[in-house]
Amino acid sequence: MGEAEKTPEEFQTNTGKWKAFLWSYLRRYRLRLAFGVAFVVARDLIGYTIPLLISIGIDTLAHSPRETASAGVALVSLGIAAAALPRFAFQTAARLSLMSTSRNIEYEMRRDLMRHFFALDASFWSRTRVGDAMAHAVNDLNAVRMMVGPGATALFEGVTALPVALAVMGWVNWHLTLAALLPLPFAFWALLYAGRMIRHRFDAIQSLFSTMSAAVQQTVSGVRVVRAFVQEQNETSRFDEMNRSYAKSNRELALYSSSLDPMLAFATGLSVLIVLGYGGRLVLEGSLSVGDFVMFTTYMALLSRPVSSLGRAVNLLQRGAASVARLHALFAQRPKIVDPGVSGKDSGAAPVPLRELQFDDVSVSFGKNVALAGVSLRIPFGSTVAILGPTGAGKTTLARLIPRLLDPSSGCVRFDGRDVRDMPLEQLRSQISLASQETYLFSATLGENIAMGAPSASASQIAEAAQMAGLEEDLRAFPLGLQTIVGERGVMLSGGQKQRVALARALLRRPRILVLDDTLSRVDAVTADFILRQLRHASWSQTTVFIATRIAAARHADHIVILSEGRVVEAGRHDELLASNSYYARMARLQNLEHELATL
Ligand SMILES: Nc1ncnc2c1ncn2[C@@H]1O[C@H](COP(=O)(O)OP(=O)(O)OP(=O)(O)O)[C@@H](O)[C@H]1O
Ligand SMILES: [Mg+2]
Repeated sequence: MGEAEKTPEEFQTNTGKWKAFLWSYLRRYRLRLAFGVAFVVARDLIGYTIPLLISIGIDTLAHSPRETASAGVALVSLGIAAAALPRFAFQTAARLSLMSTSRNIEYEMRRDLMRHFFALDASFWSRTRVGDAMAHAVNDLNAVRMMVGPGATALFEGVTALPVALAVMGWVNWHLTLAALLPLPFAFWALLYAGRMIRHRFDAIQSLFSTMSAAVQQTVSGVRVVRAFVQEQNETSRFDEMNRSYAKSNRELALYSSSLDPMLAFATGLSVLIVLGYGGRLVLEGSLSVGDFVMFTTYMALLSRPVSSLGRAVNLLQRGAASVARLHALFAQRPKIVDPGVSGKDSGAAPVPLRELQFDDVSVSFGKNVALAGVSLRIPFGSTVAILGPTGAGKTTLARLIPRLLDPSSGCVRFDGRDVRDMPLEQLRSQISLASQETYLFSATLGENIAMGAPSASASQIAEAAQMAGLEEDLRAFPLGLQTIVGERGVMLSGGQKQRVALARALLRRPRILVLDDTLSRVDAVTADFILRQLRHASWSQTTVFIATRIAAARHADHIVILSEGRVVEAGRHDELLASNSYYARMARLQNLEHELATL
Protein backbone atom coordinates (compact mmCIF):
# COMPACT_ATOMS: atom_id res chain seq x y z
CA MET A 1 0.00 0.00 0.00
CA GLY A 2 1.42 3.38 -0.99
CA GLU A 3 1.59 6.23 1.48
CA ALA A 4 -1.16 8.08 -0.31
CA GLU A 5 -3.79 5.48 0.49
CA LYS A 6 -3.11 5.32 4.20
CA THR A 7 -5.79 6.75 6.41
CA PRO A 8 -4.90 9.09 9.30
CA GLU A 9 -5.78 6.34 11.78
CA GLU A 10 -3.13 4.08 10.33
CA PHE A 11 -0.61 6.87 10.63
CA GLN A 12 -1.57 7.47 14.21
CA THR A 13 -0.17 4.06 15.13
CA ASN A 14 2.79 4.33 12.78
CA THR A 15 4.59 7.06 14.66
CA GLY A 16 8.01 5.43 14.76
CA LYS A 17 9.54 7.95 12.38
CA TRP A 18 8.52 11.06 14.28
CA LYS A 19 12.00 11.42 15.74
CA ALA A 20 13.50 11.69 12.26
CA PHE A 21 10.80 14.22 11.44
CA LEU A 22 11.69 16.33 14.47
CA TRP A 23 15.39 16.04 13.67
CA SER A 24 14.77 17.40 10.20
CA TYR A 25 13.87 20.68 11.94
CA LEU A 26 16.45 20.53 14.72
CA ARG A 27 19.29 19.69 12.34
CA ARG A 28 19.64 23.20 10.99
CA TYR A 29 20.04 24.54 14.53
CA ARG A 30 22.27 21.79 15.83
CA LEU A 31 25.19 24.15 16.43
CA ARG A 32 23.04 26.69 18.21
CA LEU A 33 21.38 23.96 20.23
CA ALA A 34 24.76 22.47 21.17
CA PHE A 35 25.93 25.90 22.31
CA GLY A 36 22.73 26.38 24.28
CA VAL A 37 23.22 23.08 26.02
CA ALA A 38 26.89 23.92 26.68
CA PHE A 39 25.82 27.24 28.23
CA VAL A 40 23.33 25.48 30.51
CA VAL A 41 26.04 23.02 31.56
CA ALA A 42 28.60 25.79 32.11
CA ARG A 43 26.14 27.83 34.15
CA ASP A 44 25.40 24.87 36.39
CA LEU A 45 29.01 23.79 36.71
CA ILE A 46 29.87 27.23 38.05
CA GLY A 47 26.92 26.94 40.43
CA TYR A 48 28.30 23.68 41.74
CA THR A 49 31.68 25.13 42.70
CA ILE A 50 29.99 27.29 45.33
CA PRO A 51 29.49 24.52 47.97
CA LEU A 52 33.08 23.49 47.30
CA LEU A 53 34.20 27.04 48.13
CA ILE A 54 32.00 27.12 51.22
CA SER A 55 33.49 23.89 52.49
CA ILE A 56 37.00 25.21 51.92
CA GLY A 57 35.95 28.33 53.86
CA ILE A 58 34.63 26.29 56.78
CA ASP A 59 37.71 24.10 56.92
CA THR A 60 39.94 27.22 56.75
CA LEU A 61 38.06 28.72 59.68
CA ALA A 62 38.36 25.50 61.67
CA HIS A 63 42.04 24.76 61.08
CA SER A 64 43.93 27.97 60.27
CA PRO A 65 45.48 30.40 62.77
CA ARG A 66 43.40 33.54 63.43
CA GLU A 67 45.38 36.00 61.36
CA THR A 68 45.31 33.99 58.08
CA ALA A 69 41.78 32.67 58.63
CA SER A 70 40.01 35.94 57.95
CA ALA A 71 42.05 36.55 54.80
CA GLY A 72 41.20 33.03 53.58
CA VAL A 73 37.50 33.52 54.24
CA ALA A 74 37.57 36.87 52.45
CA LEU A 75 39.17 35.21 49.44
CA VAL A 76 36.55 32.47 49.40
CA SER A 77 33.73 35.04 49.67
CA LEU A 78 35.24 36.96 46.80
CA GLY A 79 35.34 33.75 44.74
CA ILE A 80 31.63 33.12 45.43
CA ALA A 81 30.72 36.66 44.42
CA ALA A 82 32.90 36.48 41.30
CA ALA A 83 31.25 33.22 40.20
CA ALA A 84 27.91 35.01 39.94
CA LEU A 85 28.93 37.07 36.93
CA PRO A 86 29.82 34.32 34.41
CA ARG A 87 26.86 32.36 35.74
CA PHE A 88 24.55 35.17 34.80
CA ALA A 89 26.21 35.51 31.40
CA PHE A 90 25.87 31.81 30.64
CA GLN A 91 22.29 31.83 31.84
CA THR A 92 21.41 34.64 29.43
CA ALA A 93 23.29 33.03 26.55
CA ALA A 94 21.56 29.69 27.17
CA ARG A 95 18.17 31.34 27.19
CA LEU A 96 18.86 33.28 24.03
CA SER A 97 20.08 30.28 22.06
CA LEU A 98 17.57 27.66 23.23
CA MET A 99 14.47 29.83 23.44
CA SER A 100 15.08 31.57 20.13
CA THR A 101 15.70 28.22 18.45
CA SER A 102 12.45 26.85 19.83
CA ARG A 103 10.59 29.90 18.49
CA ASN A 104 12.24 29.49 15.09
CA ILE A 105 11.33 25.83 14.92
CA GLU A 106 7.75 26.61 15.89
CA TYR A 107 7.62 29.24 13.15
CA GLU A 108 9.07 26.90 10.52
CA MET A 109 6.78 24.04 11.41
CA ARG A 110 3.75 26.32 11.31
CA ARG A 111 4.84 27.74 7.96
CA ASP A 112 5.28 24.23 6.56
CA LEU A 113 1.98 23.17 8.05
CA MET A 114 0.16 25.96 6.24
CA ARG A 115 1.86 25.03 2.96
CA HIS A 116 0.96 21.43 3.59
CA PHE A 117 -2.66 22.38 4.21
CA PHE A 118 -2.73 24.14 0.84
CA ALA A 119 -1.11 21.18 -0.90
CA LEU A 120 -3.53 18.63 0.48
CA ASP A 121 -6.51 18.14 -1.78
CA ALA A 122 -10.21 17.52 -1.43
CA SER A 123 -9.74 13.86 -0.53
CA PHE A 124 -7.95 14.93 2.66
CA TRP A 125 -10.23 17.83 3.52
CA SER A 126 -13.34 15.73 3.09
CA ARG A 127 -12.26 13.58 6.03
CA THR A 128 -10.59 16.25 8.16
CA ARG A 129 -12.37 18.77 10.31
CA VAL A 130 -11.31 22.40 10.35
CA GLY A 131 -11.08 22.24 14.14
CA ASP A 132 -8.48 19.48 13.87
CA ALA A 133 -6.35 21.58 11.61
CA MET A 134 -6.59 24.49 14.05
CA ALA A 135 -5.63 22.33 17.02
CA HIS A 136 -2.54 21.19 15.15
CA ALA A 137 -1.58 24.70 14.18
CA VAL A 138 -1.99 26.08 17.70
CA ASN A 139 -1.75 23.50 20.48
CA ASP A 140 0.56 20.90 19.01
CA LEU A 141 3.03 23.47 17.80
CA ASN A 142 3.00 25.08 21.22
CA ALA A 143 3.87 21.75 22.84
CA VAL A 144 6.73 21.30 20.36
CA ARG A 145 8.13 24.70 21.23
CA MET A 146 7.89 23.95 24.94
CA MET A 147 9.78 20.72 24.34
CA VAL A 148 12.62 22.30 22.39
CA GLY A 149 13.02 25.38 24.64
CA PRO A 150 12.13 24.92 28.32
CA GLY A 151 12.08 21.11 28.01
CA ALA A 152 15.65 20.83 26.76
CA THR A 153 16.86 23.43 29.28
CA ALA A 154 15.30 21.50 32.15
CA LEU A 155 16.69 18.21 30.87
CA PHE A 156 20.26 19.45 30.76
CA GLU A 157 19.88 21.24 34.08
CA GLY A 158 18.98 17.85 35.50
CA VAL A 159 21.59 15.71 33.84
CA THR A 160 24.55 18.06 34.41
CA ALA A 161 24.01 18.17 38.14
CA LEU A 162 23.95 14.43 38.71
CA PRO A 163 27.47 13.45 37.54
CA VAL A 164 29.04 16.56 39.08
CA ALA A 165 27.39 16.10 42.43
CA LEU A 166 28.09 12.39 42.41
CA ALA A 167 31.75 12.90 41.48
CA VAL A 168 32.29 15.42 44.31
CA MET A 169 30.34 13.32 46.76
CA GLY A 170 32.18 10.14 45.74
CA TRP A 171 35.48 11.95 46.11
CA VAL A 172 34.55 13.02 49.65
CA ASN A 173 33.27 9.63 50.71
CA TRP A 174 32.19 6.89 48.34
CA HIS A 175 30.55 4.73 51.05
CA LEU A 176 28.25 7.55 51.95
CA THR A 177 27.60 8.26 48.25
CA LEU A 178 26.51 4.68 47.57
CA ALA A 179 24.21 4.79 50.57
CA ALA A 180 22.71 8.06 49.32
CA LEU A 181 21.99 6.43 45.96
CA LEU A 182 19.79 3.69 47.42
CA PRO A 183 16.49 5.46 46.51
CA LEU A 184 17.67 6.00 42.90
CA PRO A 185 15.79 3.01 41.34
CA PHE A 186 12.56 4.36 42.79
CA ALA A 187 13.22 7.77 41.25
CA PHE A 188 13.86 6.14 37.88
CA TRP A 189 10.69 4.16 38.07
CA ALA A 190 8.74 7.31 38.95
CA LEU A 191 10.20 9.16 35.95
CA LEU A 192 9.40 6.35 33.52
CA TYR A 193 5.94 5.59 34.85
CA ALA A 194 4.72 9.15 35.17
CA GLY A 195 6.35 9.99 31.83
CA ARG A 196 4.39 7.28 30.04
CA MET A 197 1.16 8.29 31.72
CA ILE A 198 1.69 11.96 30.88
CA ARG A 199 2.26 11.14 27.24
CA HIS A 200 -0.88 9.01 26.95
CA ARG A 201 -3.03 11.55 28.71
CA PHE A 202 -1.61 14.44 26.72
CA ASP A 203 -2.19 12.59 23.47
CA ALA A 204 -5.80 11.97 24.48
CA ILE A 205 -6.20 15.59 25.51
CA GLN A 206 -4.90 16.88 22.19
CA SER A 207 -7.36 14.66 20.32
CA LEU A 208 -10.18 15.80 22.56
CA PHE A 209 -9.15 19.40 22.03
CA SER A 210 -9.29 18.82 18.25
CA THR A 211 -12.77 17.35 18.50
CA MET A 212 -13.89 20.19 20.70
CA SER A 213 -12.52 22.94 18.48
CA ALA A 214 -14.12 21.21 15.51
CA ALA A 215 -17.42 21.23 17.40
CA VAL A 216 -17.08 24.91 18.31
CA GLN A 217 -16.22 25.78 14.73
CA GLN A 218 -19.19 23.82 13.36
CA THR A 219 -21.67 25.16 15.87
CA VAL A 220 -20.56 28.72 15.39
CA SER A 221 -20.59 28.57 11.61
CA GLY A 222 -23.89 26.69 11.67
CA VAL A 223 -25.44 28.91 14.32
CA ARG A 224 -28.25 29.98 12.02
CA VAL A 225 -29.29 26.38 11.40
CA VAL A 226 -29.00 25.49 15.07
CA ARG A 227 -31.25 28.41 16.00
CA ALA A 228 -33.70 27.88 13.18
CA PHE A 229 -34.20 24.28 14.25
CA VAL A 230 -34.27 25.22 17.95
CA GLN A 231 -31.38 22.85 18.66
CA GLU A 232 -29.52 25.12 21.10
CA GLN A 233 -30.34 22.86 24.02
CA ASN A 234 -29.22 19.72 22.20
CA GLU A 235 -26.05 21.31 20.87
CA THR A 236 -25.23 22.73 24.29
CA SER A 237 -25.57 19.39 26.04
CA ARG A 238 -23.61 17.60 23.33
CA PHE A 239 -20.86 20.15 23.72
CA ASP A 240 -21.09 20.01 27.50
CA GLU A 241 -20.36 16.30 27.40
CA MET A 242 -17.23 16.88 25.34
CA ASN A 243 -16.15 19.76 27.53
CA ARG A 244 -16.63 17.62 30.63
CA SER A 245 -14.48 14.79 29.34
CA TYR A 246 -11.85 17.31 28.24
CA ALA A 247 -11.77 18.73 31.77
CA LYS A 248 -11.59 15.21 33.21
CA SER A 249 -8.63 14.23 31.06
CA ASN A 250 -6.92 17.45 32.00
CA ARG A 251 -7.44 16.74 35.68
CA GLU A 252 -5.89 13.31 35.19
CA LEU A 253 -2.96 14.85 33.37
CA ALA A 254 -2.51 17.37 36.16
CA LEU A 255 -2.54 14.53 38.65
CA TYR A 256 0.23 12.63 36.87
CA SER A 257 2.21 15.78 36.14
CA SER A 258 2.06 16.97 39.70
CA SER A 259 2.69 13.56 41.23
CA LEU A 260 6.09 13.42 39.60
CA ASP A 261 7.61 16.18 41.70
CA PRO A 262 6.55 14.80 45.13
CA MET A 263 7.73 11.31 44.13
CA LEU A 264 11.13 12.66 43.19
CA ALA A 265 11.23 14.86 46.30
CA PHE A 266 10.44 11.78 48.34
CA ALA A 267 13.41 9.95 46.80
CA THR A 268 15.77 12.88 47.48
CA GLY A 269 14.37 13.26 51.02
CA LEU A 270 15.10 9.61 51.64
CA SER A 271 18.67 10.15 50.45
CA VAL A 272 19.13 13.12 52.76
CA LEU A 273 17.82 11.06 55.65
CA ILE A 274 20.31 8.29 54.89
CA VAL A 275 23.16 10.80 54.63
CA LEU A 276 22.26 12.55 57.89
CA GLY A 277 22.05 9.24 59.80
CA TYR A 278 25.02 7.45 58.30
CA GLY A 279 27.17 10.56 57.62
CA GLY A 280 26.47 11.92 61.11
CA ARG A 281 27.85 8.71 62.56
CA LEU A 282 30.97 8.97 60.40
CA VAL A 283 31.57 12.52 61.71
CA LEU A 284 31.17 11.37 65.31
CA GLU A 285 33.60 8.52 64.63
CA GLY A 286 36.02 11.12 63.21
CA SER A 287 36.34 9.51 59.77
CA LEU A 288 34.61 12.51 58.05
CA SER A 289 35.51 16.16 58.61
CA VAL A 290 32.73 18.63 59.47
CA GLY A 291 33.62 20.64 56.35
CA ASP A 292 33.27 17.55 54.17
CA PHE A 293 30.02 16.62 55.86
CA VAL A 294 28.61 20.09 55.24
CA MET A 295 29.81 19.97 51.64
CA PHE A 296 28.21 16.55 51.20
CA THR A 297 24.85 17.64 52.56
CA THR A 298 25.00 20.90 50.62
CA TYR A 299 25.46 18.93 47.40
CA MET A 300 22.57 16.73 48.40
CA ALA A 301 20.38 19.77 48.94
CA LEU A 302 21.67 21.26 45.72
CA LEU A 303 20.50 18.14 43.88
CA SER A 304 16.86 18.68 44.75
CA ARG A 305 16.52 21.44 42.15
CA PRO A 306 17.97 19.49 39.19
CA VAL A 307 15.96 16.45 40.21
CA SER A 308 12.82 18.51 40.05
CA SER A 309 14.06 19.91 36.70
CA LEU A 310 14.27 16.34 35.48
CA GLY A 311 10.64 15.90 36.45
CA ARG A 312 9.71 19.04 34.52
CA ALA A 313 11.81 17.89 31.57
CA VAL A 314 10.03 14.53 31.44
CA ASN A 315 6.72 16.35 31.54
CA LEU A 316 7.53 18.73 28.69
CA LEU A 317 9.36 16.18 26.57
CA GLN A 318 6.55 13.65 26.76
CA ARG A 319 3.96 16.27 25.84
CA GLY A 320 6.15 17.44 22.99
CA ALA A 321 6.69 13.88 21.79
CA ALA A 322 2.94 13.27 21.68
CA SER A 323 2.46 16.44 19.64
CA VAL A 324 5.35 15.78 17.27
CA ALA A 325 3.91 12.34 16.59
CA ARG A 326 0.54 13.90 15.81
CA LEU A 327 2.10 16.49 13.52
CA HIS A 328 4.22 13.86 11.82
CA ALA A 329 1.12 11.81 11.10
CA LEU A 330 -0.39 14.88 9.49
CA PHE A 331 2.71 15.72 7.46
CA ALA A 332 2.86 12.13 6.27
CA GLN A 333 -0.45 12.65 4.47
CA ARG A 334 0.20 13.06 0.79
CA PRO A 335 -2.08 14.82 -1.67
CA LYS A 336 -3.61 12.51 -4.24
CA ILE A 337 -3.35 15.22 -6.88
CA VAL A 338 0.36 15.41 -7.53
CA ASP A 339 1.77 18.44 -9.28
CA PRO A 340 4.20 17.26 -11.96
CA GLY A 341 5.93 20.62 -11.52
CA VAL A 342 7.70 22.57 -14.17
CA SER A 343 10.21 20.48 -16.08
CA GLY A 344 13.46 21.92 -17.39
CA LYS A 345 12.22 22.74 -20.87
CA ASP A 346 9.05 24.44 -19.61
CA SER A 347 10.67 26.61 -16.99
CA GLY A 348 10.64 30.29 -17.72
CA ALA A 349 8.45 29.85 -20.78
CA ALA A 350 4.95 31.32 -20.78
CA PRO A 351 2.27 28.69 -20.15
CA VAL A 352 1.06 26.95 -23.27
CA PRO A 353 -2.40 28.43 -23.98
CA LEU A 354 -5.13 25.88 -23.39
CA ARG A 355 -7.39 25.28 -26.34
CA GLU A 356 -9.38 22.16 -27.05
CA LEU A 357 -10.75 20.32 -24.01
CA GLN A 358 -11.38 16.64 -24.29
CA PHE A 359 -12.84 14.04 -21.94
CA ASP A 360 -11.70 10.61 -22.99
CA ASP A 361 -13.76 7.75 -21.49
CA VAL A 362 -13.61 9.38 -18.06
CA SER A 363 -14.93 7.55 -15.01
CA VAL A 364 -14.89 8.70 -11.41
CA SER A 365 -15.89 6.60 -8.45
CA PHE A 366 -15.97 7.47 -4.77
CA GLY A 367 -15.62 4.09 -3.16
CA LYS A 368 -18.53 2.05 -4.51
CA ASN A 369 -20.38 5.15 -5.63
CA VAL A 370 -19.90 5.77 -9.36
CA ALA A 371 -20.22 9.50 -10.11
CA LEU A 372 -19.11 9.43 -13.75
CA ALA A 373 -19.04 6.37 -16.02
CA GLY A 374 -17.23 6.51 -19.34
CA VAL A 375 -17.85 10.15 -20.30
CA SER A 376 -16.34 11.24 -23.61
CA LEU A 377 -16.67 14.84 -24.81
CA ARG A 378 -14.83 17.16 -27.15
CA ILE A 379 -15.13 20.86 -26.46
CA PRO A 380 -13.51 23.10 -29.12
CA PHE A 381 -11.91 26.32 -27.95
CA GLY A 382 -14.27 29.27 -27.87
CA SER A 383 -17.44 27.23 -27.66
CA THR A 384 -20.12 27.35 -25.02
CA VAL A 385 -21.26 24.06 -23.61
CA ALA A 386 -24.21 23.61 -21.27
CA ILE A 387 -24.39 20.59 -19.01
CA LEU A 388 -27.77 19.61 -17.65
CA GLY A 389 -29.13 16.66 -15.81
CA PRO A 390 -30.92 15.54 -12.67
CA THR A 391 -29.41 16.05 -9.26
CA GLY A 392 -26.59 13.63 -8.46
CA ALA A 393 -25.94 13.05 -12.17
CA GLY A 394 -22.24 13.86 -11.85
CA LYS A 395 -22.23 17.45 -13.15
CA THR A 396 -20.15 18.92 -10.34
CA THR A 397 -17.78 15.98 -10.54
CA LEU A 398 -17.27 16.68 -14.24
CA ALA A 399 -16.62 20.37 -13.56
CA ARG A 400 -14.03 19.63 -10.88
CA LEU A 401 -12.05 17.44 -13.27
CA ILE A 402 -11.24 20.38 -15.54
CA PRO A 403 -8.92 22.39 -13.21
CA ARG A 404 -7.79 19.07 -11.70
CA LEU A 405 -9.41 19.49 -8.33
CA LEU A 406 -10.11 15.82 -8.83
CA ASP A 407 -8.45 13.14 -10.94
CA PRO A 408 -10.42 10.54 -12.90
CA SER A 409 -10.43 6.97 -11.61
CA SER A 410 -9.95 5.89 -15.22
CA GLY A 411 -9.76 7.58 -18.60
CA CYS A 412 -8.27 11.02 -18.97
CA VAL A 413 -8.94 14.72 -19.36
CA ARG A 414 -6.84 16.41 -22.03
CA PHE A 415 -6.12 19.84 -23.37
CA ASP A 416 -4.94 19.71 -26.98
CA GLY A 417 -4.11 16.05 -26.58
CA ARG A 418 -2.03 16.56 -23.44
CA ASP A 419 -3.14 14.82 -20.25
CA VAL A 420 -3.84 17.44 -17.56
CA ARG A 421 -1.91 15.25 -15.13
CA ASP A 422 1.23 16.04 -17.10
CA MET A 423 0.80 19.80 -16.89
CA PRO A 424 2.19 21.93 -14.09
CA LEU A 425 -0.82 22.68 -11.86
CA GLU A 426 -0.09 26.39 -11.75
CA GLN A 427 -0.05 26.66 -15.55
CA LEU A 428 -3.25 24.68 -15.82
CA ARG A 429 -5.19 26.42 -13.08
CA SER A 430 -4.08 29.92 -13.96
CA GLN A 431 -5.99 29.61 -17.24
CA ILE A 432 -9.14 28.10 -15.80
CA SER A 433 -11.73 29.78 -13.57
CA LEU A 434 -14.18 27.57 -11.78
CA ALA A 435 -17.08 29.20 -9.98
CA SER A 436 -18.18 26.35 -7.79
CA GLN A 437 -21.69 25.40 -6.77
CA GLU A 438 -21.03 26.29 -3.15
CA THR A 439 -19.85 29.87 -3.24
CA TYR A 440 -17.32 30.74 -0.61
CA LEU A 441 -16.77 34.34 0.32
CA PHE A 442 -14.10 35.60 2.67
CA SER A 443 -14.78 38.04 5.45
CA ALA A 444 -13.49 41.00 3.45
CA THR A 445 -14.87 43.68 1.14
CA LEU A 446 -16.83 42.88 -1.99
CA GLY A 447 -13.96 44.19 -4.10
CA GLU A 448 -11.40 42.06 -2.28
CA ASN A 449 -13.60 39.02 -2.71
CA ILE A 450 -13.82 39.61 -6.44
CA ALA A 451 -10.08 40.22 -6.71
CA MET A 452 -9.28 37.04 -4.78
CA GLY A 453 -7.88 35.28 -7.85
CA ALA A 454 -6.19 38.35 -9.34
CA PRO A 455 -4.75 40.45 -6.50
CA SER A 456 -3.11 42.90 -8.88
CA ALA A 457 -6.34 43.81 -10.69
CA SER A 458 -7.13 47.51 -10.94
CA ALA A 459 -10.30 49.08 -9.57
CA SER A 460 -11.69 49.54 -13.06
CA GLN A 461 -11.06 45.89 -13.94
CA ILE A 462 -12.88 44.84 -10.78
CA ALA A 463 -15.79 47.13 -11.61
CA GLU A 464 -15.92 45.71 -15.13
CA ALA A 465 -16.03 42.13 -13.84
CA ALA A 466 -18.79 43.12 -11.40
CA GLN A 467 -20.72 44.70 -14.23
CA MET A 468 -20.40 41.57 -16.40
CA ALA A 469 -21.62 39.45 -13.52
CA GLY A 470 -24.74 41.62 -13.28
CA LEU A 471 -23.79 43.15 -9.94
CA GLU A 472 -24.03 46.77 -10.97
CA GLU A 473 -27.49 47.47 -9.58
CA ASP A 474 -26.75 45.69 -6.33
CA LEU A 475 -23.59 47.74 -5.92
CA ARG A 476 -25.54 50.95 -6.34
CA ALA A 477 -27.76 49.88 -3.45
CA PHE A 478 -24.76 49.52 -1.12
CA PRO A 479 -23.59 52.92 0.09
CA LEU A 480 -19.99 51.68 0.21
CA GLY A 481 -20.18 49.90 -3.15
CA LEU A 482 -17.20 47.62 -3.68
CA GLN A 483 -15.89 48.63 -0.25
CA THR A 484 -18.82 46.95 1.50
CA ILE A 485 -17.67 44.34 4.02
CA VAL A 486 -19.60 41.17 3.27
CA GLY A 487 -19.42 39.73 6.81
CA GLU A 488 -18.24 36.28 7.78
CA ARG A 489 -18.58 34.10 4.68
CA GLY A 490 -20.73 36.71 3.03
CA VAL A 491 -23.68 36.59 5.43
CA MET A 492 -24.70 40.10 4.46
CA LEU A 493 -25.42 39.17 0.87
CA SER A 494 -28.37 37.36 -0.65
CA GLY A 495 -27.82 33.95 -2.19
CA GLY A 496 -27.98 35.35 -5.71
CA GLN A 497 -25.61 38.18 -4.84
CA LYS A 498 -23.09 35.73 -3.44
CA GLN A 499 -23.28 33.70 -6.62
CA ARG A 500 -22.65 36.74 -8.77
CA VAL A 501 -19.68 37.83 -6.62
CA ALA A 502 -18.26 34.35 -7.23
CA LEU A 503 -18.97 34.76 -10.94
CA ALA A 504 -17.25 38.16 -11.02
CA ARG A 505 -14.27 36.56 -9.25
CA ALA A 506 -14.11 33.92 -11.98
CA LEU A 507 -14.44 36.49 -14.77
CA LEU A 508 -11.88 38.96 -13.46
CA ARG A 509 -9.06 36.61 -14.39
CA ARG A 510 -10.29 36.58 -18.00
CA PRO A 511 -9.77 32.83 -18.07
CA ARG A 512 -9.41 30.91 -21.29
CA ILE A 513 -11.62 28.24 -19.80
CA LEU A 514 -14.59 29.36 -17.71
CA VAL A 515 -16.44 26.71 -15.73
CA LEU A 516 -19.65 27.70 -13.99
CA ASP A 517 -21.20 25.14 -11.71
CA ASP A 518 -24.82 26.13 -11.35
CA THR A 519 -23.64 29.66 -10.77
CA LEU A 520 -26.85 31.24 -11.99
CA SER A 521 -29.28 28.98 -10.16
CA ARG A 522 -30.22 31.62 -7.62
CA VAL A 523 -30.29 34.46 -10.08
CA ASP A 524 -33.65 35.39 -11.62
CA ALA A 525 -34.21 34.47 -15.28
CA VAL A 526 -33.91 38.02 -16.60
CA THR A 527 -30.60 38.69 -14.85
CA ALA A 528 -29.31 35.26 -15.87
CA ASP A 529 -30.15 36.01 -19.48
CA PHE A 530 -28.35 39.34 -19.26
CA ILE A 531 -25.24 37.70 -17.78
CA LEU A 532 -25.13 34.94 -20.39
CA ARG A 533 -25.44 37.50 -23.19
CA GLN A 534 -22.54 39.46 -21.68
CA LEU A 535 -20.46 36.29 -21.57
CA ARG A 536 -21.13 35.48 -25.20
CA HIS A 537 -19.91 38.93 -26.15
CA ALA A 538 -16.96 39.07 -23.79
CA SER A 539 -13.95 40.96 -25.09
CA TRP A 540 -11.69 37.97 -24.74
CA SER A 541 -12.27 34.55 -26.27
CA GLN A 542 -12.97 31.74 -23.90
CA THR A 543 -14.52 28.34 -23.65
CA THR A 544 -17.48 28.32 -21.29
CA VAL A 545 -18.66 25.13 -19.69
CA PHE A 546 -21.71 25.88 -17.63
CA ILE A 547 -23.91 23.68 -15.59
CA ALA A 548 -27.49 24.82 -15.58
CA THR A 549 -30.87 23.76 -14.36
CA ARG A 550 -32.92 26.00 -16.63
CA ILE A 551 -33.46 25.27 -20.30
CA ALA A 552 -33.69 29.00 -20.89
CA ALA A 553 -30.08 29.36 -19.91
CA ALA A 554 -28.92 26.52 -22.13
CA ARG A 555 -30.76 27.36 -25.29
CA HIS A 556 -28.05 29.53 -26.83
CA ALA A 557 -25.22 27.10 -26.07
CA ASP A 558 -23.24 25.64 -28.98
CA HIS A 559 -23.59 22.24 -27.48
CA ILE A 560 -25.84 20.81 -24.80
CA VAL A 561 -24.96 17.67 -22.87
CA ILE A 562 -27.40 15.82 -20.68
CA LEU A 563 -25.85 13.73 -17.93
CA SER A 564 -27.75 11.11 -16.02
CA GLU A 565 -26.31 8.69 -13.50
CA GLY A 566 -22.81 9.57 -14.59
CA ARG A 567 -23.39 8.99 -18.31
CA VAL A 568 -23.93 11.26 -21.29
CA VAL A 569 -27.46 10.34 -22.32
CA GLU A 570 -28.18 13.08 -24.83
CA ALA A 571 -26.14 15.68 -26.63
CA GLY A 572 -26.80 18.22 -29.34
CA ARG A 573 -28.11 21.72 -29.99
CA HIS A 574 -31.25 23.18 -28.50
CA ASP A 575 -33.43 22.69 -31.57
CA GLU A 576 -32.10 19.19 -32.24
CA LEU A 577 -32.82 18.08 -28.71
CA LEU A 578 -36.27 19.71 -28.69
CA ALA A 579 -37.28 17.78 -31.80
CA SER A 580 -36.76 14.40 -30.18
CA ASN A 581 -38.75 12.97 -27.34
CA SER A 582 -35.81 13.45 -25.04
CA TYR A 583 -35.25 14.32 -21.38
CA TYR A 584 -34.36 17.79 -22.61
CA ALA A 585 -37.60 18.14 -24.53
CA ARG A 586 -39.64 16.93 -21.58
CA MET A 587 -37.86 19.37 -19.30
CA ALA A 588 -38.41 22.18 -21.81
CA ARG A 589 -42.13 21.48 -21.84
CA LEU A 590 -42.25 21.40 -18.07
CA GLN A 591 -40.35 24.63 -17.72
CA ASN A 592 -42.45 26.31 -20.37
CA LEU A 593 -45.50 25.30 -18.45
CA GLU A 594 -44.02 26.79 -15.34
CA HIS A 595 -43.30 29.95 -17.23
CA GLU A 596 -46.86 30.14 -18.54
CA LEU A 597 -48.26 29.52 -15.10
CA ALA A 598 -46.06 32.27 -13.77
CA THR A 599 -47.28 34.76 -16.34
CA LEU A 600 -50.97 33.96 -15.86
N1 LIG B 1 -16.49 13.63 -2.37
C1 LIG B 1 -17.42 12.71 -2.63
N2 LIG B 1 -17.41 11.54 -1.96
C2 LIG B 1 -18.32 10.60 -2.22
N3 LIG B 1 -19.30 10.72 -3.11
C3 LIG B 1 -19.37 11.85 -3.81
C4 LIG B 1 -18.44 12.90 -3.61
N4 LIG B 1 -18.75 13.91 -4.45
C5 LIG B 1 -19.82 13.50 -5.14
N5 LIG B 1 -20.20 12.26 -4.77
C6 LIG B 1 -21.31 11.49 -5.33
O1 LIG B 1 -21.20 11.50 -6.71
C7 LIG B 1 -22.46 11.62 -7.34
C8 LIG B 1 -22.44 12.81 -8.28
O2 LIG B 1 -22.31 13.99 -7.52
P1 LIG B 1 -22.26 15.42 -8.19
O3 LIG B 1 -21.98 16.39 -7.11
O4 LIG B 1 -21.32 15.38 -9.32
O5 LIG B 1 -23.75 15.59 -8.70
P2 LIG B 1 -24.41 16.83 -9.42
O6 LIG B 1 -24.84 16.36 -10.75
O7 LIG B 1 -23.53 18.00 -9.36
O8 LIG B 1 -25.70 17.06 -8.51
P3 LIG B 1 -26.44 18.46 -8.17
O9 LIG B 1 -27.25 18.83 -9.35
O10 LIG B 1 -27.30 18.11 -7.02
O11 LIG B 1 -25.40 19.44 -7.83
C9 LIG B 1 -23.47 11.75 -6.22
O12 LIG B 1 -24.08 10.49 -6.05
C10 LIG B 1 -22.65 12.11 -5.01
O13 LIG B 1 -23.21 11.55 -3.85
MG1 LIG C 1 -23.57 19.76 -8.43
